[in-house]
Amino acid sequence: MQENPRLAPCSLVAFRVKNITEMLKANRSDDLAQQQAVVTELFPAELLGDDLAGIETAIADQAEAFDPAVAPYISYICNTKGKRIRPVLTFLSGGATGGNTEAHTKLATTLELIHMATLVHDDIIDEAEIRRQAPTANAKWGASLSVLLGDSLFAQALLLSTEFNDASIGRSIAQSTKDVCTGEIIQTQRRFDFQLSREDYFEIIRLKTAALFASAMELGARLNNQSEAIQEQLRDYGMKIGTAYQIYDDCLDLTGDEATVGKTLRTDLNKGKLTLPILNLIDQASSAQRAKLNKLLIQKEAIDISALGSIADYEGSIESAVQTAKNLVNEARECLECLEDNDHTDALGQITLYLDGLLDSCCEG
Ligand code: IPE
Ligand code: IPE
Ligand code: MG
Ligand code: MG
Repeated sequence: MQENPRLAPCSLVAFRVKNITEMLKANRSDDLAQQQAVVTELFPAELLGDDLAGIETAIADQAEAFDPAVAPYISYICNTKGKRIRPVLTFLSGGATGGNTEAHTKLATTLELIHMATLVHDDIIDEAEIRRQAPTANAKWGASLSVLLGDSLFAQALLLSTEFNDASIGRSIAQSTKDVCTGEIIQTQRRFDFQLSREDYFEIIRLKTAALFASAMELGARLNNQSEAIQEQLRDYGMKIGTAYQIYDDCLDLTGDEATVGKTLRTDLNKGKLTLPILNLIDQASSAQRAKLNKLLIQKEAIDISALGSIADYEGSIESAVQTAKNLVNEARECLECLEDNDHTDALGQITLYLDGLLDSCCEG
């Protein structure tokens, strides 16, 4: 494998990350608000201020590329603001491997548009009412129009993806878009399927969520002409934190507060999605308990989550899912050892701690 002579292995990253971990641990016994403040500080908003402002403008401008009959709908969707995780990863990968360029802003915008398209479609499938603290496209205009709006966003993203000098970037973006759709299709096929294995679950979330995280990381480095080895390590980091993030989201669906999270929750079980905490619950349930859970699911009526508490160890199932995700986050941290030492590399380490903090919050209260 070809090595990039510019990049030496960096133990400093591990050292700094360890320091921040210690800082978090030191705060662990203090009050929750303080700990959350530390976790929030770990999100590299300041470091990426200009880059993120750039994609806000680029996303807001997207409506101009559409027919006047379509533009107001696109404008509505583009004016909702998410956490911009995929752009953040793109810019951190770019910054850690030589610096961000206009091409990174284009890549970040393209990936965020693909993400937004998948959310529009996902909210139709899940019949979700609220997304990013606002009514979903589906709630406002119904499924027919929303399917087409999601398609339009995908198409606009694919148009942008043809604008890179390196044609392999567009190809990779198209592949990860296909992966997201494949993940959503398999998930839909396997609803209410008690035969779903852990392996199946991990394959679904690799496709529907981690693929886009991985592309952000890999392509951010490819735009800086990094070696295959570096691209591969960063792709792996993206896969691991993307998988951990979906596990977090799956726990949040059971434990989160809708008003705080800003989206419709508790849809997974009602839609028959067997997520990791539920697979854990099924695993340790007796056959009588399993039959009870099966009956709850098959009824296809709204499930009261508190009913799960009476079936085996519900809290333990969440904790075990959180632990699985935290193990992945730890592994992701190791992927950063190939990078040069700079602020962006540091921030990639901080993202893992940020995710650790989010995961911890699923087990509180
Ligand atoms: C939501 O993604 C869908 C999942 C992959 C869990 P985000 O949590 O990144 O959503 P926004 O972009 O912040 O709204
Ligand atoms: C992620 O799954 C959806 C996509 C990758 C499109 P979820 O269905 O859990 O996402 P949320 O919870 O609706 O954001
Ligand atoms: Mg959903
Ligand atoms: Mg979810």
